[in-house]
Amino acid sequence: MMLARQLDAASVARLKSALFVVCLMPLGLLVWRGFTGGLTANPIEFITHTTGWWTLSFLMITLAVTPLRRLLDMPWLLRLRRMLGLYAFFYASLHFLTWLVVDQFFDWEAIIKDIAKRPYITVGFAAFSLLLPLAATSTNAMVRRLGAARWQSLHRLIYVIAVLGVVHFWWLVKKDIREPAVFALILAVLLGARIVILWRKRALPLVSGAQRE
Ligand code: HEM
Repeated sequence: MMLARQLDAASVARLKSALFVVCLMPLGLLVWRGFTGGLTANPIEFITHTTGWWTLSFLMITLAVTPLRRLLDMPWLLRLRRMLGLYAFFYASLHFLTWLVVDQFFDWEAIIKDIAKRPYITVGFAAFSLLLPLAATSTNAMVRRLGAARWQSLHRLIYVIAVLGVVHFWWLVKKDIREPAVFALILAVLLGARIVILWRKRALPLVSGAQRE
């Protein structure tokens, strides 16, 4: 299916179903590795790293929807955004649970100590905590209940979460900062695109009506 500027509801629904399966693939690959002994000599570390990497990647992909939608003039892309955001939350939950259950084994004292003492854990924990209200208010019913304006302000937390996610990654790497630096660069571009969009929106009322979107 060629991706067109305009897509009918049925095509968007099909695309969403396909994307749903594609987004499950990192988890599928982990499970497959688990059954075939492919989780390396340190499976906990491997699972934590994989789920953390995908959490950050899904955050970036979610943030890319609005700029891409405008750049490619494909309004229907917005219909995929909620699912992508929820996948970020899904992988973050797996990441957090791996740390909580498998790594710390519900040792609450050690957990609190880890959150308080290791700055990269503090930041990661803050990012995950902020994701919770966004996931909880992701339904249409919650958008209606909060009202569009309040819902939108709340969901701006995604920018803070993405920044915290990059800082978390940056602080946890020992020497080679190349990967977190790439994420930081992508985030800077995505946030820069938001600023341009906002700036254009503010500037538009000054331009003649004919040029408006
Ligand atoms: C939105 C939330 C979060 C994001 C985006 C995130 C992202 C990441 C990323 C990208 C990595 C490195 C992956 C790699 O090496 O390829 C990572 C590792 C890790 N994260 Fe997170 N994380 C989040 C929340 C958390 C939370 C809540 C915890 C625990 C409280 C946590 C604990 C860890 C640990 C223990 C590691 C491995 C550190 C090591 O190498 O020793 N993360 N995370």
